[in-house]
Amino acid sequence: MNARGTGIVAVYPGSFDPLTNGHLDLIARGSRLVDRLIVAVLNNEAKQPLFSVEERVAMLEEVVGSYPNVEIGSFAGLTVEYASQRGANVIFRGIRAISDYEYELQMALMNRRLQPGIETAFLLAGEAYSFISSRLVKQVASLGGNISGLVPPLVEARLKQHFEQVRLKNAHTARSG
Ligand code: PNS
Repeated sequence: MNARGTGIVAVYPGSFDPLTNGHLDLIARGSRLVDRLIVAVLNNEAKQPLFSVEERVAMLEEVVGSYPNVEIGSFAGLTVEYASQRGANVIFRGIRAISDYEYELQMALMNRRLQPGIETAFLLAGEAYSFISSRLVKQVASLGGNISGLVPPLVEARLKQHFEQVRLKNAHTARSG
């Protein structure tokens, strides 16, 4: 199915720290429903992300940059304001399990109160991705576990590189301490 010509512009906001195969699956599904899909990386240093906004945007661009109707952006502040500025009328969010629903419902209702013209649509990622989260992927990678198949190869390489640097730095500190 390809829904070009619907006039629907969607924003898919998130931390994407880092992008997982679950996000990727959602982007592929979402992009087939709308004219334009803007994947929007939240710029919130207070969350102490592993990767900078620029790094997260660059990884997304490399992985989904070839999708014809997908753009990557970043924003600070309210999602609904960013969505309005970009001319979007829909916000996509993914739901993996019922445990996600409560938080997502609160956000969706708050966003509707802030901007009644923008609808939130929940998409379901493939069942194979229902247990993947950026948080768990980072934890497993930091402990040297196998994350292949959970994130795109580029992200896997970047995570390995990051935690290898951390290990080298810690080893150096322990030696010189
Ligand atoms: O990937 P995440 O961390 O679950 O994404 C959460 C995100 C970015 C969608 C949410 O934190 C958000 O929308 N932040 C922007 C601030 C905002 O609009 N808050 C009001 C919504 S309740």
